[in-house]
Amino acid sequence: MDVLETIRLHRSIRKYEKRAITVAHKEAILRAACNGSTTGNMQLYSIIVTEDKEMMLRMAPYHFNQSMAINAPMILTFCADFNRFNRYCACRDAQTDAYNNLQSYHWAFTDAIIAAQNACVAAESLGIGLCWLGTITFNVDKFIEVLQLPENVIPVACIAFGYPAETPELTDKLPLEALVHHETYHNYSDADIDRLYYDKEHHPNTLQLLKENNLPNLAQIITQRRYIKKDNEAYEQVLIQALKKQCFMH
Ligand SMILES: Cc1cc2nc3c(=O)[nH]c(=O)nc-3n(C[C@H](O)[C@H](O)[C@H](O)COP(=O)(O)O)c2cc1C
Repeated sequence: MDVLETIRLHRSIRKYEKRAITVAHKEAILRAACNGSTTGNMQLYSIIVTEDKEMMLRMAPYHFNQSMAINAPMILTFCADFNRFNRYCACRDAQTDAYNNLQSYHWAFTDAIIAAQNACVAAESLGIGLCWLGTITFNVDKFIEVLQLPENVIPVACIAFGYPAETPELTDKLPLEALVHHETYHNYSDADIDRLYYDKEHHPNTLQLLKENNLPNLAQIITQRRYIKKDNEAYEQVLIQALKKQCFMH
């Protein structure tokens, strides 16, 4: 499909046909993932392909047993990876401790996310549905263990892929002017916020959520029910420990 049309029609798919992704489609997705822009052309990422049900079931609890983590025919886990480049340096008598820092993690994180989104666009252009599993960022330590990730490798994105067994509505998005600034950042007045969030706050999905949660607005649903300070701070500690263990932080 045309690239712009593929992107315009993006929606997360959470129900999949049982059939496996074809070898040709899998290869096309992985090749697209590995052909994006990358820091210094070092390709500071690795992709772990999970198709084995047993492996999926081992990881599922850490994905809070989300159905996509169990039923998708293929899951790709994108890792920020300086291990391979460090190994190359070691084999070529080059310095191997230059990248044991947060700055290098930031590069590898960026490379991994670019690869992940390239995989998504390629998959959707082939008619394959997908859903990101943000749970990878909550239980980083557990995934490091199950996926046997060495030092200098951290999982940063996890995406379930499969042929769609549903066609959900496109989700509402903020207007472009809410997201784009020209030349310098223009901070938002209260009136800007009211205007820019008006459609989202009046979207039928939001009204339904307000009813279900018995709360007055979307901001309170997100901060009180979905992404809660206490949980965020707990997962932050897990992440900091993982960054230290994997040698990206001292
Ligand atoms: C980093 C990231 C993590 C996500 N994690 C989850 C998840 O764990 N479970 C889920 O159902 N959807 C997850 N999503 C999908 C979002 O809910 C979805 O992209 C968003 O609601 C917009 O809807 P759309 O993708 O259909 O446009 C995640 C998306 C991103 C980018």
